[in-house]
Amino acid sequence: MKFAKNILCIGAGYVGGPTMAVIAFKCPDCKVTVVDVNEERIRRWNSDDLPIFEPGLLDVVRSARGRNLFFSNAIAEGIRAADIIFVSVNTPTKTFGYGAGMASDLQYWEKTAHEIVANSDRSKIIVEKSTLPVRSAEAMERILQENKRGIHFEVVSNPEFLSEGSAVMDLLEPDRVLIGSRQTESGRKAAQEIAAIFAHWVAAEKIITANLWSAELSKLVANAFLAQRISSINAVSALCEKTDADVAEISFAVGSDTRIGPRFLNASIGFGGSCFKKDILNLVYICRSYGLNEVADYWEAVIEINEYQQERFVRKIIREMFNTIVGKKIVLLGFAFKANTGDTRESPGIHVARKLLEERVLLVVSDPQALENARKDLAGLDGSVEYEPDPYRAAVDAQAIAVITEWEFFKKLDFAKIFASMRKPAFVFDGRNILDHQKLFSIGFNVFPLGKPSLTHFK
Ligand code: NAD
Ligand code: UGA
Repeated sequence: MKFAKNILCIGAGYVGGPTMAVIAFKCPDCKVTVVDVNEERIRRWNSDDLPIFEPGLLDVVRSARGRNLFFSNAIAEGIRAADIIFVSVNTPTKTFGYGAGMASDLQYWEKTAHEIVANSDRSKIIVEKSTLPVRSAEAMERILQENKRGIHFEVVSNPEFLSEGSAVMDLLEPDRVLIGSRQTESGRKAAQEIAAIFAHWVAAEKIITANLWSAELSKLVANAFLAQRISSINAVSALCEKTDADVAEISFAVGSDTRIGPRFLNASIGFGGSCFKKDILNLVYICRSYGLNEVADYWEAVIEINEYQQERFVRKIIREMFNTIVGKKIVLLGFAFKANTGDTRESPGIHVARKLLEERVLLVVSDPQALENARKDLAGLDGSVEYEPDPYRAAVDAQAIAVITEWEFFKKLDFAKIFASMRKPAFVFDGRNILDHQKLFSIGFNVFPLGKPSLTHFK
């Protein structure tokens, strides 16, 4: 079959895989190929055991795979055949040299630029899908323009706003699609071509065009704003614990103001995930590199509060369990950085587990999707860790439960049964405020929610 467009995506990760699957599903007139250097990942994309867990993803992949959706390791071949190339490789925080711990590590992204130049024999549109520092497109353009064959590459920015755990729904019904381009004739034309792909299923008013730099920077700013809301409510949760105010009541009261809105105001043990911290650090680094130190300090505080909140949670566990937890069995209910995903990157669970192990607890981790990753994250740490998918089995002889992830099914557990199997006094530290605290208290637990009065049986 002859396709209207050949679309390639370099990088078959959390973004490249689902995004291209949805594009293929919604655009049967386009051939969509996703390539990656990682052979195992591609093998799994070609099976029903997908490399990432996302509700609804397997159905979307199955409906298009083999029809107009293909996963492959043949990168050079993919580049040659493509009209449009999305670059969706990882851009982690740099761990070495200048900017270590702050700046983006752009080596994978730059490598794709060289691969594109080396394997192209005609003009193409290159789409930045990865999250990048503002003005990255300029560097991409410079590398691409080095070709001596007169080929024109138009670089556009199309940052991705999907959230893990709801990636498919976010892609099917996005709040907006943002496309940034040079404000030239060819730049605008390229932006229109990318817009035409999304127009297969996204309403025209939700497809926003902007200049290249605004699009790149909007992505970093969107993540910084979201994370800032979480740090704001988490900072308030600490004050609530000192004053017997209830952080959930405050979220509701404050979020009812339509100017503020109710979302992203749930107090937690801190935000995790591969991007918030990385993108804010990157924003901070960029600000500092322009000498905007006050602006950098402002955004850096969002991360500092996040670290404070994780630390506060561990200290509370130690303090409330009589300042010694050596040899006590403690269950982490959840390990993923949020519900509905197996992803544990930057999960607060990693920090909590590490600190508890330093205190020599007997740790049990229970999570419906994240145990495979948890094992990798905690490998090599000294101490005793068990991995038990069944929360009932995990809790036997435990002295405390700490809720790390807001999995819906944790709310429905039979806590009377769990309490009966635990050592006494039994504790619950609810790092997500998802459980029925009054009920747990009446069962016999000593309950420590976040940003709410604790409920204990101690006189
Ligand atoms: P990921 O690590 O899951 O996937 C990146 C993939 O790129 C890997 O499979 C890797 O093997 C591949 N890759 C690296 N270099 C390559 C090369 N030269 N050729 C071919 N393949 C190569 O990363 P991700 O979570 O999908 O994130 C990708 C980008 O999207 C990042 O910039 C991230 O900040 C951004 N982003 C991520 C999310 C998210 O929810 N994870 C959401 C929005 C934006
Ligand atoms: C986030 C953004 O929401 C996406 O728009 C963005 O595309 C993505 O980062 C990215 O650039 O990678 P994600 O990290 O997948 O998505 O998940 P979120 O739902 O934003 O949650 C991030 C963290 O904040 C989780 O640990 C979550 O539990 C926590 N959170 C979220 C809270 O603690 N409280 C809240 O009220 C909301």
